Amino acid sequence: MTNQEQSDKYGIQYMTAPDSTREWLTQEPLTQPPIWCSVDLRDGNQALATPMSLKEKLRFFKLLVTLGFKEIEIGFPAANDTEYTFCRKLIEDDLIPDDVTVQVLTQARAHIIEKTFEAIEGAKNVIVHLYTPTSVAHREQVFHMTQEETLALAVHGAKICEAARLASSDPNAIRFEFSPEGFSATEPDFALSVCQAVCDVWHPTKAHPVIVNLPATVEVSLPHIYANQVAYLRKQLTPAEGIVLSVHPHNDRGCAVASAEYSLMAGADRVEGTLFGNGERTGNVDLITLALNFYSQGIHPNLDFSRLSEVTGLFESLTGMPIYERQPYSGQLVYAAFSGSHQDAIAKSFAYRKANPSHMWDVPYLPVDPSDFGREYETDVIRINSQSGKGGIVYVLHSQYGLDLPREMHLYFSQMIKMYSDRLKTELQSSQVYDIFLGELVNLSAPLTLLSAHYQQNSGIEAEIRFQFCGEEQTASGIGNGRLDAVSNALKQALHISYTLNTYTEHALADGSGAKAVSYVELRQGKRTEWGVGLHTDIVTSSVYALVSAINRLLQCDDNHFL
Ligand code: KIV
Ligand code: ZN
Repeated sequence: MTNQEQSDKYGIQYMTAPDSTREWLTQEPLTQPPIWCSVDLRDGNQALATPMSLKEKLRFFKLLVTLGFKEIEIGFPAANDTEYTFCRKLIEDDLIPDDVTVQVLTQARAHIIEKTFEAIEGAKNVIVHLYTPTSVAHREQVFHMTQEETLALAVHGAKICEAARLASSDPNAIRFEFSPEGFSATEPDFALSVCQAVCDVWHPTKAHPVIVNLPATVEVSLPHIYANQVAYLRKQLTPAEGIVLSVHPHNDRGCAVASAEYSLMAGADRVEGTLFGNGERTGNVDLITLALNFYSQGIHPNLDFSRLSEVTGLFESLTGMPIYERQPYSGQLVYAAFSGSHQDAIAKSFAYRKANPSHMWDVPYLPVDPSDFGREYETDVIRINSQSGKGGIVYVLHSQYGLDLPREMHLYFSQMIKMYSDRLKTELQSSQVYDIFLGELVNLSAPLTLLSAHYQQNSGIEAEIRFQFCGEEQTASGIGNGRLDAVSNALKQALHISYTLNTYTEHALADGSGAKAVSYVELRQGKRTEWGVGLHTDIVTSSVYALVSAINRLLQCDDNHFL
């Protein structure tokens, strides 16, 4: 397609609101959360290849209540049996908490409205949500209706709803919502006339407000253009105090969250959306992202996502929709740091936070604290592969296994881990990092095994040792300024090897079976450096085991020995 053909095909079709001063954009960012309305059980459900069963819808409803939703669109009861039965079940079995309002969708047709009112009979708090498509494409191509006919249809629907409400057993239990479907692709002046005409039928007041919901049924423009349409209706619709202005962004251009946030700045009070943004095509606005964007600014969203991993699992099993690994806040990888510099910064920031516990959350690469949402630093944040750095690798051993590798050993061990990961072409779990540590460095006994060591004070310390070397048992003795030094001198002489014992450190380690000592020994032989680690309940034995492990690594000598 040529450029000309392409622009002839699409062109710019934004529905720009008459007032384009965008004063709302100059205001302070958001300081309080909106009224949330989940449309998972209607808009989300209608987008599933296999819609949820009655049992699954009931479970999902319970989840939404637990998360704190106070307004929940439960379906389109006149559309099919499952939707109708679900609505009846919630009401008849008294499953709707007193502080939760359920919402039902209806078209502006008499028999559908009638069936809808039949479905909600007996509900304590309910919103009847009437919608009429108003967009240019709908009017011209789908319904072949003029603006006047479209407006008349909406008003007709509003009147039938009002009559049905007055005829119901508890008119005060029923509130109304109106949506001009395709609002963002409707001429703003016309959308305003339709919404105003419907409100004029319903006579909203502050005490009995009407919800005017403005859907970006298809996201066709930039977020600020949509928000400006919202701002226009906010300014013009009357009576302002009787109108709860709601937005319902879809995500076709990937900007639904921004559209919702801008709309709230532009005067909207309420947002309709779904968990994880499930919905038609690219989905509805993701209420989890929106809510946690508030949370990350210190504003409690009035929704509880402290067990987000569980929510994710339940959502996946009920809807059959997998959650993308990079889905904000919820994806499996969204807290993961593989890269060395990121891991290093995070590990240092964690240490800083430990020393400064009241410091505000300001961790590099982690805009929020994963533990607030039931995620774990150990398994979710520092993830080890061939790109990882020493900070992260050492952090894993420290945080999960209590090992404090000496600083001089960090690079040595991280290179070992990176080589493993590179050759295996895979991420390593922390248990694998630990297994490599144990297998490569701890209490090594081949080709040299220490069988026994006895010490006595004799112008310094004298060690008498019995050991096996390449299967052959031998004895040796040596003198040194300490026990480790004495054993080292005995072995140097017996095995005819030379090295310098460069570093020795130790610390206590509590494991499942009781306290142990862990020792780290660094040996230098020319340009070569090898480390060994000893683990034993006795501190001296652990230090000697560390020495023997390091000697074994020197003796193994092959650069590729750890594969
Ligand atoms: O996206 C939409 O326009 C809708 C309406 C029915 C509110 O879901
Ligand atoms: Zn929708």
